[in-house]
Amino acid sequence: MSPVSIAIIGLNGSLGKPTLEAINSGKFDSKIKFPIKALTRKAQTSTDKIQYIQTEITPDTIDSIVEKLRGTDVIIELVSHNPDLLNTIEPIIVKSQPKLFIPSQFGSDLATMNKYIPGFLGFKNAHSENVRKAGIKSVDIVTNFFAEPSKFLYEVVGHVGIDPANKSILQLGDLNTRVAFTRVEDIGNVIVAVATTAPESLPDKIRVKSGSISYQDAIDRYEQTHNVKLEVKEKYTVEEAKQQLSEKLAKGFNPADFLWYLHVGGATGDLNYDDDNELINPNQFLWKWTEY
Ligand SMILES: NC(=O)c1ccc[n+]([C@@H]2O[C@H](COP(=O)([O-])OP(=O)(O)OC[C@H]3O[C@@H](n4cnc5c(N)ncnc54)[C@H](OP(=O)(O)O)[C@@H]3O)[C@@H](O)[C@H]2O)c1
Repeated sequence: MSPVSIAIIGLNGSLGKPTLEAINSGKFDSKIKFPIKALTRKAQTSTDKIQYIQTEITPDTIDSIVEKLRGTDVIIELVSHNPDLLNTIEPIIVKSQPKLFIPSQFGSDLATMNKYIPGFLGFKNAHSENVRKAGIKSVDIVTNFFAEPSKFLYEVVGHVGIDPANKSILQLGDLNTRVAFTRVEDIGNVIVAVATTAPESLPDKIRVKSGSISYQDAIDRYEQTHNVKLEVKEKYTVEEAKQQLSEKLAKGFNPADFLWYLHVGGATGDLNYDDDNELINPNQFLWKWTEY
């Protein structure tokens, strides 16, 4: 496959830095047509590898962005899960006609979460589907829980039942139940590996993971890194948690419960999965998956 031209939309969230690090690592140099275009609202100085393009993303800037993206093979979207923003970006992708689009999915497998919470983040799936319906190959990347030492699964721990303020644990089911996690630096590599793979060889969804941890692993790590002892304050079986879930959902989806929803999903054991790691990084040829 000849080198591909790439554009990235949204740089200053969880995934911009690891994706740029993967691009700058040299690992993918022979597969990329430089410079890549990086669309961001923040002024940044371009390099020979990254051409920053400063722009807002609003209905008024759609056409100017399409003009800037003309001829780009792969568009990678790393923006927040904001339905209005995704709706604004859709016509940009459709009009730009890339050979491959990587939408801002990067979470739990929504097909799995939908078994417990019908319509959970449904706007993300609708976004991918709308772009597909316009004839553009779109590959959703499922990562389950992000892991990042200063943040996810180390400091942001509500979805594994840890309440830092009260030094307590909400236990749902067996603490040995495992959930998939992906370190953000691995996600950066996954994104660039997918972007530089022939689109026709990719399925519409790939599931990757750095590994899996048990709830107990997350608790042990938190106790070690915070020099604290956590106590189980409340304990429910998975069936009880699912019952609580349906009672709460009967009153409507509540964004404030987002991490708890993930906790219940994970407690079922369904948020650990067989991955497609070999498809994009066979025998860890491109990089070694990072441990928790
Ligand atoms: N699985 C997990 O554990 C997990 C955890 C967190 C996030 N996620 C997922 O990862 C993806 C990225 O989330 P995130 O938390 O990194 O997002 P974020 O920090 O909220 O936003 C990422 C970037 O989106 C761009 N953006 C946001 N609002 C915008 C607007 N109104 N107009 C134009 N650009 C805008 C910005 O880029 P610029 O600053 O460059 O303009 C921003 O830095 C989402 O799909 C999210 O659901 C998953």
